[in-house]
Amino acid sequence: MAKVGFGIIGCGNIGPVHAAAIAAVSQAKLVAVSDIVEATAQKLGGQYGAEVHTDYRKMLERKDIQAVCLCVPSGLRVEIAEACAAAGKNILSEKPLEVSTKRIDRIIAATDKAGVRLGCIFQSRFAEGSLLVKKAIEQGRFGKLVLGDAYIKWYRSPEYYASGAWRGTKKLDGGGALMNQGIHQIDLLQWFMGPVAAVTAKTTRALHAGLEVEDLATAMLEFKSGAFGVIEGSTAVWPGHPARVEVHGTEGSVYTEDGAIKFWQFKKRLASDAKIEAGLSRESELGTGAGDPLSGLKTEGHRRQIMDFAQAIQKGRAPLIDGREGRNAVALIEAIYKSAATGKTVKL
Ligand SMILES: NC(=O)c1ccc[n+]([C@@H]2O[C@H](COP(=O)([O-])OP(=O)(O)OC[C@H]3O[C@@H](n4cnc5c(N)ncnc54)[C@H](O)[C@@H]3O)[C@@H](O)[C@H]2O)c1
Repeated sequence: MAKVGFGIIGCGNIGPVHAAAIAAVSQAKLVAVSDIVEATAQKLGGQYGAEVHTDYRKMLERKDIQAVCLCVPSGLRVEIAEACAAAGKNILSEKPLEVSTKRIDRIIAATDKAGVRLGCIFQSRFAEGSLLVKKAIEQGRFGKLVLGDAYIKWYRSPEYYASGAWRGTKKLDGGGALMNQGIHQIDLLQWFMGPVAAVTAKTTRALHAGLEVEDLATAMLEFKSGAFGVIEGSTAVWPGHPARVEVHGTEGSVYTEDGAIKFWQFKKRLASDAKIEAGLSRESELGTGAGDPLSGLKTEGHRRQIMDFAQAIQKGRAPLIDGREGRNAVALIEAIYKSAATGKTVKL
């Protein structure tokens, strides 16, 4: 089967992770890259023998590109996505899909209209531990789910926020510790526990006083199922800890750190549990962004998700994480921000 041709728009920090991941997927081929900063595009294009563009619209004219990875700052995606959809390209966007549900709805409408696929990167879902938790939930091994929690106690330095004019701004980052960093675990939480019905939250700036957005947030959750939970997210906790997601039920409890299983116990034990228990001290295969955005990030999660996206195109099916899934995490974060701003419980 012919390889799926990929283009990348935005060659900054995460663009090269997409390029490395595409190069590691046998169903995919990197055809061209684009960045408004020519040297940035040249550097990445040169490394992978890909054509280089400073105007992504030129890149979209290529017939041998079927998929485009959107790696520009979060709040710059909607117009680019609309242009990609109009050019008939399938879109795999970095998280968050955009900075508000209103803007995400424009992207969903454009891709629906054009009949192209829309995927949202949440590489944590492809971690082995995440997949094991999801399977155990589907098998009913937790009994009744009662608590689901996400803890993202991370650190970002002042230099990190100064490294791009868009970072930490409402307009282009859309939010702080939750919208940029914690969104991976917020996505996992709803994937595991089901949708959130109501949220009561507080946000503040604990360390990065000059930011427009939060570097500390807590949220009390009520899931539609009746289960409770909490989210604690920060970029002010030094040195930063692995991001933890916990799922607790009347018949079992599990927690993961950066996608690796760290606790796994069920009332009704299965023979297959022994293998999982034996790997409990294992580190995550995806790496961690706890103290630094990219120093610990491995390409493996992106490789698995890009492989799924390429196969979805080849086989004419939907990607595992589509635009509507990408929207759910932003909708919950918006509700958290609204609750923090109003001091009231917000229903979703
Ligand atoms: N999945 C993850 O773990 C992960 C990790 C890091 C970043 N991200 C996401 O990736 C996105 C980018 O983050 P980053 O850290 O790489 O930012 P960055 O600032 O390092 O890179 C963004 C790049 O986009 C380019 N750009 C801006 N406008 C453009 C346009 N119109 N056409 C082409 N290029 C354009 C910039 O010149 C820059 O090189 C963000 O949305 C972020 O949330 C995801």
